[in-house]
Amino acid sequence: MKKIFLLLIVFFTCFQVSAEDRKTIRVSTDNTDLILKVAPNGRLYQSYLGSKLLNEQDIVSLPSASGGDASANGWEVYAGSGAEDYFEPAVAITHNDGNPCTILRYVSSESKAVDGGTETIIRLRDDQYPVDVTLYYIAYPKEDVIKTWSEISHQEKKPVMLSRYSSTMLYFSAEKYFLTEFSSDWAKEVQMSTQELQFGKKILDTKLGSRAAMFVQPFFELGFDRPANEHQGDVLLGTIGWTGNFRFTFEVDNEGNLRVIPAINPYASYYELAPKDVFKTPEFIFTLSKEGTGKASRNIHAWARNYQLKDGKGDRMTLLNNWENTGFKFDEKVLVELMKEAKHLGVDMFLLDDGWFANKYPRNNDHTGLGDWEATKSKLPNGVPALVAAAKEAGVKFGIWIEPEMISPKSELFEKHPEWAIHLPNRETYYYRNQLVLDLSNPKVQDFVFGVVNNLMTNYPEIAYMKWDDNCSLLDYGSSYLPKNKQSHLYIEYNRGLQKVLQRIRAKYPELVMQLCAGGGARVNYGLLPYFDEFWTSDDTDALQRIYMQWGVSGFFPAIAMASHVSADKNHQTGRRIPLKFRFDVAMSGRLGMEIQPKDMNDVDKAFSKRAIAAYKDIRPVVQFGDLYRLVSPYDNKGVSSLMYVTSEKNKAVFYAYKISHFINMVIPKVCMNGLDPSKNYRLVDLTPVDSSKPCDLNGKIISGKILMEEGIALKSLLKSEYSSLALQLQAVD
Ligand code: DGJ
Repeated sequence: MKKIFLLLIVFFTCFQVSAEDRKTIRVSTDNTDLILKVAPNGRLYQSYLGSKLLNEQDIVSLPSASGGDASANGWEVYAGSGAEDYFEPAVAITHNDGNPCTILRYVSSESKAVDGGTETIIRLRDDQYPVDVTLYYIAYPKEDVIKTWSEISHQEKKPVMLSRYSSTMLYFSAEKYFLTEFSSDWAKEVQMSTQELQFGKKILDTKLGSRAAMFVQPFFELGFDRPANEHQGDVLLGTIGWTGNFRFTFEVDNEGNLRVIPAINPYASYYELAPKDVFKTPEFIFTLSKEGTGKASRNIHAWARNYQLKDGKGDRMTLLNNWENTGFKFDEKVLVELMKEAKHLGVDMFLLDDGWFANKYPRNNDHTGLGDWEATKSKLPNGVPALVAAAKEAGVKFGIWIEPEMISPKSELFEKHPEWAIHLPNRETYYYRNQLVLDLSNPKVQDFVFGVVNNLMTNYPEIAYMKWDDNCSLLDYGSSYLPKNKQSHLYIEYNRGLQKVLQRIRAKYPELVMQLCAGGGARVNYGLLPYFDEFWTSDDTDALQRIYMQWGVSGFFPAIAMASHVSADKNHQTGRRIPLKFRFDVAMSGRLGMEIQPKDMNDVDKAFSKRAIAAYKDIRPVVQFGDLYRLVSPYDNKGVSSLMYVTSEKNKAVFYAYKISHFINMVIPKVCMNGLDPSKNYRLVDLTPVDSSKPCDLNGKIISGKILMEEGIALKSLLKSEYSSLALQLQAVD
């Protein structure tokens, strides 16, 4: 009894927070407030997350924690494991004495101005163990985005074991919750589906390590009370800035509250944290909107262009890539011809894809050569210099493909350094696409991977662009570099190693444009995009399927970063034949490129392509920097899909509509535009008429923003045939 009394005295002396000291922390954007309060027990609780509060009194009158007195079972901001909280914790630590309980109490907080917003730093500490957690929040007022992460450290005598290490934890209270997830597969990325969350947990996670997002993307939408809607209603859009294994936990509790926990996936990743080392979690980025997902997407796009995406304010080059038109079969002559064609068509750059390297085991297919980054003499006797020179002569920039994190078992690199490949020494090796992943937890391997870019750039500084591919997941789990008792760190250290390499590349080559690719779009995330200018959405360039994929991806990533290419008449993946105009109209809604073999095109198609590329260059700033308004979803089964971009001054816009199904006498709804100035008049220009002397009926018309937005435009006569489409430029007139 005496012991308990003494303990209580210590507890109250150390942690009881007096009424005056009770702290309220406000993390605010222009339209959102996150209010955290320290309760009488000294612990930090989420008191409010929602639309901006109107005055100080609102904040004062909020409860310390939702639904009650902020005692146990309140909405603790970073709930620890092993104590009285009934549901999923944010952090789980096994201390040196074997105890798995952590309870964090408020220590101090501060705020400071940072680029674009305000950073709030909150320090928490356990009262029984020397364990510290620091919570970080950066609020970007104008963009209505909050970015948050945490740091865990301790001063126990020996390492502690982390088995949960979340970026943050957010709570919601609504009648119903609807989760939209984005499942994927190779050539079938970013498929949207929505489900109502019921009591218990729904987990979205991946355990694929490097090409981690092959089956599920690291972003989601939450609709409150009803499914997320494009134009109205309360929604949250969230995404984690981590390219490795992630896990989103959505847990509805016994009272119908929802907790959302974004984190690195702890799967096979128990982490021994040494005293004084700091475990930094990835950033979780979210925005709340009361005007549906459309507004939420525009928030994230603006934030990404301003603060997260590499060179978010510079426009992007159009290009011709040889992958879909030559595959591995090419030589110098073929490439030089393509460069000339690229110039003739009017694109800015020629990109040489896979198959240009390795000599002992030439890269003539996907079985060999990864790791041996020297031009194949039999194909390219004059090496990369001849290609750089030919591009210069043709008048286009030169870009090159690499897959530097990977190794082919048939390569000189593997012969020299088999220990650099991640694989299990005592089991049969599993190969995905006949290759293995290099062990980036090893600093020597980090040097090698950096060297792939560094050697190319030192030897051929005219290289303007690199496509950085990643076609293999981290499956056979074994590092010869990490000690035996740290094998479970591999997934995490691999991705930290990758970041270190990318930081070195960016420090030395800030101008080099880089594309993020992972066997298509299996690595699209804001953890890597500070190092990359754009991403490859999918190996599926079929324009019809692209409409669905681009719709999903455009929820979270701006058009400036979304590479979208025109493929061959008969698509190499689906075999579908789609008119060239439709293919262009789809690709022109992102960063336009070409995969098609120009020599397979007839003169009419070539002339059309030239005009379309020139038209794209005209509208490029509107698409790449404008605000996206998604008008008709392809998922709505209306037979059409439509979207538009509008400049912030609302003086220019580009409108797209696609006919995505085709039946006799089908009803095609009129489409109301959005984002325009109702009081302005706009001149409409048909951007891509098949016959330039016969533009569509809307060409040249002047219509007010009010009519375009309220009455809309009738598409029935414009989208008659199968795969018909429309791309209109809008220009405000005085
Ligand atoms: C996968 C990429 O997504 C493709 O675009 C292409 O670069 C191939 N790899 C090359 O192997």
